[in-house]
Amino acid sequence: MTYAAITGWGAAMPPSVLTNADLSTFLDTNDEWIISRTGMKERRVSHISGIEMAIIASKRALACAGLEGKDIDLIVYGSCSSDEQVPNSSSGVQAAIGAKHAASMDVNTACTSFLYSLSTATAMIRTGVVKKALVIGVEIISPFMDWENRNVAVLFGDGCAAVVVEASDKQEGVLGEQLGCLADVRHTLRVRGMGTAYCNLDVTAGITSWDFDGQEIFRHAVQGMVAASAAVMKKCGVTAEDIDLVVPHQANLRIIDAVVSRAGIPAEKVMLTVQRYGNMSAATVPVALTEALDEGRVKPGSLILMPAFGAGLTVCAHLVRW
Ligand code: ACO
Repeated sequence: MTYAAITGWGAAMPPSVLTNADLSTFLDTNDEWIISRTGMKERRVSHISGIEMAIIASKRALACAGLEGKDIDLIVYGSCSSDEQVPNSSSGVQAAIGAKHAASMDVNTACTSFLYSLSTATAMIRTGVVKKALVIGVEIISPFMDWENRNVAVLFGDGCAAVVVEASDKQEGVLGEQLGCLADVRHTLRVRGMGTAYCNLDVTAGITSWDFDGQEIFRHAVQGMVAASAAVMKKCGVTAEDIDLVVPHQANLRIIDAVVSRAGIPAEKVMLTVQRYGNMSAATVPVALTEALDEGRVKPGSLILMPAFGAGLTVCAHLVRW
């Protein structure tokens, strides 16, 4: 049996910080409202493109794994903010890291894109199609944010992290996952102005408007992540007591609290970045994982639960043995 182990990791976080106080200089909002409703204090804004962030994170992940670009067979770029519609963004990373022999693809399931990308790479490793993969979670939301809409502008940030995943004969890496999509409520989050549906309409390129039902998303996010977590734990024959660390998608501190409390996992087992980075969509889970690893919160044998949700509404939960 072949398993898929995470052997390297690296993040590329933009240095520019946008605080709640900064937002309140141009939006009718305030620090108290944002912290009490979301837990967020600040987020990052990138001055470089998504591909450029991904190249930096990928080089760090490769160095961590002791590999070079030429060793990589597959690149999966998880994001809903591609630099260009065509060509795909993973090919931009491939060129820059010298991964001449790699297959390259983009995966867009919004905030769950990193975890769906991890499943894609894991499946290809387990079936022997590839041996070494680079999986990237990257998002650059600031260029298409509607900065006049306080409902959404306070919630998001830019960021990136990447992991190297390699074939292993030990029972480690991704033990199992539960993937799903609540398509009946797919329009609870929609960014109008992006995509071919808007070509030839009276829409200026790069100008978007956000349709967004926060309370509906909140409800489905909690239910979806709890159900996906329960399903993957059942599949893998583990219980909430076996979980050493939860690395969740971080769209709102209250969502995370509700998910772990319903799943029966103590709050101290959760890795949080939402206060410092807000919701970085696809980058949220890999950045939190990278920071948990760098802080020594992951030990050999640790069992990590990674639940997430995103526009679609996609939901998933992954169990990883370290
Ligand atoms: N500052 C001050 N007031 C605000 C702000 C703001 N930034 N944003 C909204 N308000 C106001 C609203 O206008 C409303 O005022 P009104 O009652 O006069 O109309 C009031 O605050 C309450 O607004 P609600 O939307 O009811 O606030 P809620 O408690 O639901 O919190 C939030 C909003 C934080 C978005 C919450 O619904 C949420 O976290 N939802 C889930 C997360 C989410 O949807 N994230 C984005 C998508 S992420 C994804 O991955 C799919």
